[in-house]
Amino acid sequence: MTSEEQKQAENRARPTTDEFRAFVAEDWAPRQPGATALSEAAPYAAERRARVSEAFPGERLIVPAGGLKVRSNDTDYVFRPHSAFAHLTGLGGDREPDAVLVLEPRDAEHGGGHEAVLYFRPLAGRDSDEFFADTRYGEFWVGARPTVEDVETELGLTARHIGEFADAAAKDAGEVTVRLVRDADRDLTRQLDAARTTEGAEAATLEEADDELAQFLSTLRLTKDEWEVGEMRKAVAATHVGFEAVIADLPEAVARGRGERWVEGIFGLHARHQGNGVGYDSICAAGDHATTLHWIKNTGDLKDGDLILLDAGVEVDSLFTADITRTLPANGTFSDAQREIYDAVYAAQEAGMAAVKPGNKFSDVHAAAIRVIAEYLHRWGLLPEGVDVEGTLDKDHGQYHRRWMVHGTSHHLGIDVHDCALATREQYMDAELRPGMILTVEPGLYFKADDLKAPERFRGIGVRIEDDVLVTDDGFDNLSAAMPRTSTDVEAWIARIWNR
Ligand code: GLY
Ligand code: MN
Ligand code: MN
Repeated sequence: MTSEEQKQAENRARPTTDEFRAFVAEDWAPRQPGATALSEAAPYAAERRARVSEAFPGERLIVPAGGLKVRSNDTDYVFRPHSAFAHLTGLGGDREPDAVLVLEPRDAEHGGGHEAVLYFRPLAGRDSDEFFADTRYGEFWVGARPTVEDVETELGLTARHIGEFADAAAKDAGEVTVRLVRDADRDLTRQLDAARTTEGAEAATLEEADDELAQFLSTLRLTKDEWEVGEMRKAVAATHVGFEAVIADLPEAVARGRGERWVEGIFGLHARHQGNGVGYDSICAAGDHATTLHWIKNTGDLKDGDLILLDAGVEVDSLFTADITRTLPANGTFSDAQREIYDAVYAAQEAGMAAVKPGNKFSDVHAAAIRVIAEYLHRWGLLPEGVDVEGTLDKDHGQYHRRWMVHGTSHHLGIDVHDCALATREQYMDAELRPGMILTVEPGLYFKADDLKAPERFRGIGVRIEDDVLVTDDGFDNLSAAMPRTSTDVEAWIARIWNR
């Protein structure tokens, strides 16, 4: 502890007497078991671990959940486990800070493959100081944690106290190859790097080996199993509820002022109520703010006559998140210019979705959508003199259309809103779509208020439409199809909700 931390720890300390210790430890009802059955996610997580085991035979694989992150001095952010840890354990929500999953290689006599061992900080006894005194982990401060037995029952793997991790990680050092997910827990990475380099490994070689593991775990999520698809359907249904609540409150958001904040709050309320929370900071962008792609400040007003671009998703308890955008007229009706842009984006989205089928490449979805965007821009006379649709789509020259849609049309979606981020270009953009993949289709058009190349009637209007689609055997299933998309359906949707 630094002297600074020492001072902070002491300045609010209360006296702890032996009498108090004895008194606080006694007369509690017996504990109830925290888990009585295997979780729904556990068999799927076991199947994923089996695939990891096959890919890295004989090696020790370390997947930390990560630790608590300080928000300010002694206050932490709500914990979210590393996505690879969540995927391989089936744990969601805020579980389990400081835990580490180890896949320990087993010799052939003991069945080969790997044994999954979860090291974590289990519930401390009521006779411990931690019970009442530890503001970060203690039961009095942050609630009861599971026991070793609870975790074994829930996850169907071996669980051990985190205190045993260091020895387990160092066992047979130098003989067994150890790979680690490096970005989950920086302190742990430093410790293991020090231990591994002492055993003679080169730092650069270690990093390369670790990166291979991280990449494998990221691409393991490229296709979703049936349980994951179910979780995604729940996330989308919950997001639908959030959007309808926002629509119901649009007049309130206009009337109160600071309407973007109101929209963010209403969606956040339902995200928290329906699921674990928002899967990413909601983009609540009214008027010209919609032309800023990641407008998460949400500090503006919502005015009668504005569009509001709401890009938001509920993350369910398993941490799978939806990622949906609807662009809504605050007063319930699109103006002519707003509708003109909206219908162009809708046409682009339809073209993008039509390209979602096995055998097509991931990049074909963007190619189909952006062609429609280019066609509209050409028709509106916005491309430079003498440049036609093919001219702007040319990869080496042109690309003028990108002034009004600079982002890609799709990304993989799952536990991370931008899932499978470590996949290579060959595995991602240039890869064929396969059944079980879930991706967004989200074209947009954004005309900034100060864009002198845009027609005046278009300035200050941004539109995006974003849906989450599952690749099926012969095409796609739009998971968010229940949320209206065409301009007339959106108006009818708003009217229906306002007249309830
Ligand atoms: N919400 C960020 C995105 O649509 O990718
Ligand atoms: Mn989005
Ligand atoms: Mn998206």
